[in-house]
Amino acid sequence: MSKKIDIEKYFTPDLSKARKRTNKTIEEVKFDLKETYKKIGLNKTYLIHTYGCQGNEADSETMGGILELMGFMPAITEEESDVILINTCAIRENAENRIWGELGRLKALKRQNPDLILGLAGCMAQEENVVDRVLKKYQHVDLVFGTHNIHKLPDYIQTAMFSKERVIEVFSNEGEIVENLPKTRHHKFKAWVNIMFGCDEFCTYCIVPYTRGKERSRSKEEIIEEVKELVINGYKEVTLLGQNVNAYGKDKKEDSYTFGDLLRDLDETGIERIRFTTSHPHDLDRKTMEAIRDSKHVMPFFHLPVQSGSNQVLKKMNRHYTKESYLKVLNDLKEIVPGISVTTDIIVGFPGETEEDFMETLDLVEKADFEGAFTFVFSKREGTPAASFTDSTPEDEKKQRLYRLNEKINEGYLKGSKRFLNETVKVLVDGVSKNDDQVLAGYSEHQKLVNFRGDKSLIGQIVNVKITIAKTWFLMGELVD
Ligand code: 5AD
Ligand code: SF4
Repeated sequence: MSKKIDIEKYFTPDLSKARKRTNKTIEEVKFDLKETYKKIGLNKTYLIHTYGCQGNEADSETMGGILELMGFMPAITEEESDVILINTCAIRENAENRIWGELGRLKALKRQNPDLILGLAGCMAQEENVVDRVLKKYQHVDLVFGTHNIHKLPDYIQTAMFSKERVIEVFSNEGEIVENLPKTRHHKFKAWVNIMFGCDEFCTYCIVPYTRGKERSRSKEEIIEEVKELVINGYKEVTLLGQNVNAYGKDKKEDSYTFGDLLRDLDETGIERIRFTTSHPHDLDRKTMEAIRDSKHVMPFFHLPVQSGSNQVLKKMNRHYTKESYLKVLNDLKEIVPGISVTTDIIVGFPGETEEDFMETLDLVEKADFEGAFTFVFSKREGTPAASFTDSTPEDEKKQRLYRLNEKINEGYLKGSKRFLNETVKVLVDGVSKNDDQVLAGYSEHQKLVNFRGDKSLIGQIVNVKITIAKTWFLMGELVD
């Protein structure tokens, strides 16, 4: 039986409201779970399916943490789950299509088990057209909540479970920064640490500033405390997360404490390895570069999305830099931190991109010496400015460009691997290799995947490995003392 829909009752998203930015300072509040909620999940289980970026993985760990505080236990299979949450990604159309497929597939499960609570969370939930479609066509979805109200999950579960009502609550604008949120960390020695939320860049192709709200930084004290606690709990590596970590602290106008200062302070916490993602070239300053140079624990790896090598495309993308100024920042970084490994993101087939524009991108890739890249064909995102730009390049030609670009990028991967041949690198051992359980796998300081023979007891430790073989996607070597 489908439930009655009373749209008036719902908080549904609005992309034009989501675009608005205010000057108000974002308050910090502490999460606290009501005593009466702590037993709701006893003898019940949950599953979370996560799509998209590390930000979503971190959010899923929070959702899991909240559910476990309510008494739920993780389920092994969907069939035995009492709650299934789908944490979604909206960055490209194919990411969304996969999720629609998942939701369709779960309809049968809901039919078998009408008490199952099926929830849609994350970036897709922030989109008007998505929520409209769920309201009309996916009535087996009981719960929709967005990226700004994860901390309200206990209320939503309570309502869905006991009142048997559909709950749809998506805020278009960010609220407070919520601290003290519980987390189920999926890894025992590597952890995500959010340092800021949201993005104010408004690149014209990108949906993120609408789905994640305005830039707001967590306080340095909270971040440092979180990392110190991770050290106490045996963690070896943290990855600092934000859509534009280089803008850390810039929203707190009264303070000149920015990303470089944070890196220096975190370097003193006793954590072995500090990584961060992701960066915007126009916010990358010398202070950050020098902090990387001077810190013992900040890894010599930098993901610096360029998106295109054509100045006219960069302008239409609203990226605030040119090919030349990007290369200047990159060269400064390489000069200040010698040997640093740099990777990037590139979009091909942006509306109006000509063959000449694309050749500029290939030229930039050659000059930049990237050691890897995530490459994408432009995907039209409803509500973003680029969705209405004229786009006459056939899809086939865009795919050809992607193929040609990847050929060049792969040369960079191989070159980046080869520079470690006969070198000894430090590897944080992640686990056994996917293909051979006698072989261990982990990442070097420069973020290269390294395989070598060794005992499983080394998992979670940092060991020295001498590299004997360098392939495009990985290195192989031998354990040394
Ligand atoms: N189409 C294709 N790629 C996109 N990205 C963001 N939005 C789009 C889009 N609409 C890519 C950018 C960004 C990465 C996370 O995803 O390269 O850096
Ligand atoms: Fe999207 Fe640009 Fe913000 Fe990155 S910097 S999240 S590409 S708007």
